[in-house]
Amino acid sequence: MAPAAPAHFDSLWLNLDAATMTEDGGYGIIEDAAIGIKDGKIAFIGPADELPGDTDALTDYAYDADGRVATPGLIDCHTHLAYAGNRAAEFEQRLQGVSYEEIAKKGGGILSTVAATREADEEEIGEKTLARLTALFQQGVTTLEIKSGYGLDLETERKLLTVATILRDETGLRIQRTFLGAHALPPEYKGKADDYITLVCDEMLPALAEEGLIDAVDAFCEHIGFSTGQTARVFDAAQKLGLPVKLHAEQLSNQHGAALAAKYKALSADHLEYLDEDGVKAMAQAGMTAVLLPGAYYYLRETQLPPVDLLRKHKVPMAIATDHNPGTSPVLAPILMLNMACTLFRMTPAEALAGMTRNAARALGWQADCGTLELGKSADVALWDIDHPRDLAYRFGHNPCRGVLLAGEWHAFEEGH
Ligand code: NIG
Ligand code: FE
Repeated sequence: MAPAAPAHFDSLWLNLDAATMTEDGGYGIIEDAAIGIKDGKIAFIGPADELPGDTDALTDYAYDADGRVATPGLIDCHTHLAYAGNRAAEFEQRLQGVSYEEIAKKGGGILSTVAATREADEEEIGEKTLARLTALFQQGVTTLEIKSGYGLDLETERKLLTVATILRDETGLRIQRTFLGAHALPPEYKGKADDYITLVCDEMLPALAEEGLIDAVDAFCEHIGFSTGQTARVFDAAQKLGLPVKLHAEQLSNQHGAALAAKYKALSADHLEYLDEDGVKAMAQAGMTAVLLPGAYYYLRETQLPPVDLLRKHKVPMAIATDHNPGTSPVLAPILMLNMACTLFRMTPAEALAGMTRNAARALGWQADCGTLELGKSADVALWDIDHPRDLAYRFGHNPCRGVLLAGEWHAFEEGH
């Protein structure tokens, strides 16, 4: 007997509306679409009636998506997911009128999380980070970034990056591990910021890069963080190791950090409430992505809006992320971020969704692998119980994600999660 002809697809998903997110300003909708998967990648995406044959001949595994909406798996391109401790007491203080800067200057804020994180062991941080990651995953996130930055010494930064690496390897989610040694000045370096930057550049960064724990390098360029001169030293060290950079810039004041990041062809500059037009132009010229973080804007009760119109005018792609962290954005709600990008930042629902798919992939430098539903990209797909992709930014407080394909593997989520 002749062997059966090999199936075209490892699996085939039928009866769905696909928001491919390939179209600037729109959703790139394909109605009554099919997605064929081979070796974890998208091998067919298009109207089901354009499939190159009968379902039975194409695959042994055909699935009915029940008319649901498929989007690219969401991408949370800016998170500080790995830490221990809790800053609810600081939240209460801020509600009484104490500012984020005042709390930081008194040794609270980031440094209080650093103290808790230094005390916790790898297992505890791993469990906590996995719980946070699982919450994001069950809301459709298949790719995310995890920054270090709550260790601020070699051993604890290693612990955080190791947790991110183990979670990447164990869960199969695509995780970018970002070294944020220059997040705050640790107490043992008080008054010696330049010496701390020397430690970051000459010891921590080369050691952790050598151990294969770093995909990208970030810094907090701010009057309560590090100066542009100190940030440039970190970027020089990263560049020497061939690592891409990105920057927390213009969050609380205009330090011209985005323009500095542009000189290093950074992947992104993030926050950006105080960015001016020169900074926007520099980002445009360098091909950078603007990562806007409505959770931090909201929690800090900021009133200065990021310059969305200028970013549009100069065609700087905008990404949206949770910025999950225990201080300024203790948020595990990607859909709420889509909503806030619209209600607070005046983005359109299509721009917001592009911000957590196509443009978020770009912010990570991973646009060849994920962020849109296109031939050859990883079969990372979220399936939603909604009528139209704009519904994602419209409602929050419920989770319409019924499951995701992660590199072609189906994970179903119960209703009510
Ligand atoms: O993205 N701005 C600096 N880093 C974080 C906040 C960190 C913290 O407060 O723990 C942010 O907002
Ligand atoms: Fe951040």
